[in-house]
Amino acid sequence: MENILEIFQIGNDFVKNVIVDTILLNLTQGKYFMSKILCTGGAGFIGSHLVDKLIELGHEVIVVDNLSTGKAENINPKADFINWDISEYYTNGSLDYIFHLAALPSVPYSIEHPTKTHRVNVNGTYNILKSASDMKVKKVIFASTAALYGECEKPARESDKIFPKSPYALHKAIGEAYMGLFSEVYGLPTISLRFFNVYGKRCDPNSDYSLVISKFLKLRSEKKPLSIYGNGRQTRDFVYIDDVVDACILAMESEIKNEVINICTGKEISINDLADIIGGEKVYLPSRKGDVFRTIGNNMKAKALLQWTPKVQIWEGIRLMEEM
Ligand SMILES: NC(=O)c1ccc[n+]([C@@H]2O[C@H](COP(=O)([O-])OP(=O)(O)OC[C@H]3O[C@@H](n4cnc5c(N)ncnc54)[C@H](O)[C@@H]3O)[C@@H](O)[C@H]2O)c1
Repeated sequence: MENILEIFQIGNDFVKNVIVDTILLNLTQGKYFMSKILCTGGAGFIGSHLVDKLIELGHEVIVVDNLSTGKAENINPKADFINWDISEYYTNGSLDYIFHLAALPSVPYSIEHPTKTHRVNVNGTYNILKSASDMKVKKVIFASTAALYGECEKPARESDKIFPKSPYALHKAIGEAYMGLFSEVYGLPTISLRFFNVYGKRCDPNSDYSLVISKFLKLRSEKKPLSIYGNGRQTRDFVYIDDVVDACILAMESEIKNEVINICTGKEISINDLADIIGGEKVYLPSRKGDVFRTIGNNMKAKALLQWTPKVQIWEGIRLMEEM
């Protein structure tokens, strides 16, 4: 702000005009209007980054999270925090938007605990939608997953048939179906974003179910071999956290509604190659139940509808994580 005032005092007319035009353009597009936004799962890995960005953009943010996998220290101090289990109905009077990210997001955990994860991932999602519909929010953005494609023979498109291979994947498919139902029957605008393998800082490397990149970085720092499930030739489409956050914000700001959109890079890398980039000895363990061999997405729909393109390449993303 001080810099802007300085520029105005210096009296550079060209710069002044550019600033005024930009502000007017953004105002007409509604970008500077503050919204009241609820983010479920805002203490978790993806949710906490999203909350930080929303607050940076000037929005008022409420985090609803029961801290089951998330951490209190992840929560932006400028957000209001409500410690709540979404298995119970939650309402907040009035809200503009809801990002629904709270979930028990692990494939193996859902296989071991199908009832518990169903309660959170399915009943919780229903509760959030019912609440959103009662509050007449402008849009719900739902964190869905590539897991519902099952095996990908080619880059998965949103129109492809889905083959959920775990309770978790099925829960997300039911969540998407509920998003569609609430849009159609109750007129509630929704968007389901199918995240592929998201990585970045705050991705917990200590849990049994942690995502592979943070786990590898931790193992390397402890000078332990990188543990690989199966033969390591399985591939994943890794997408960096900042790109995912950008996609979420674009989904909120856009006029697009009642869509399912892949959020992926369209590039795959094998776990062996990933281990080589990170470096260190490898050790092979038996494959895990529910793990698929190949995951890769097609992101043309995100490009066309949201004007979203991932910016961070895998080696850059890993370097950014190493610097943190
Ligand atoms: N990380 C990925 O690669 C990835 C990929 C696809 C989809 N997703 C989806 O994105 C969302 C966020 O994933 P993440 O990686 O940040 O996971 P995360 O575990 O870090 O975050 C989930 C958050 O939900 C909270 N939560 C869990 N149960 C709750 C309950 N009953 N009530 C309230 N809060 C509860 C947890 O405490 C945690 O803060 C999830 O819905 C997940 O399914 C993630």
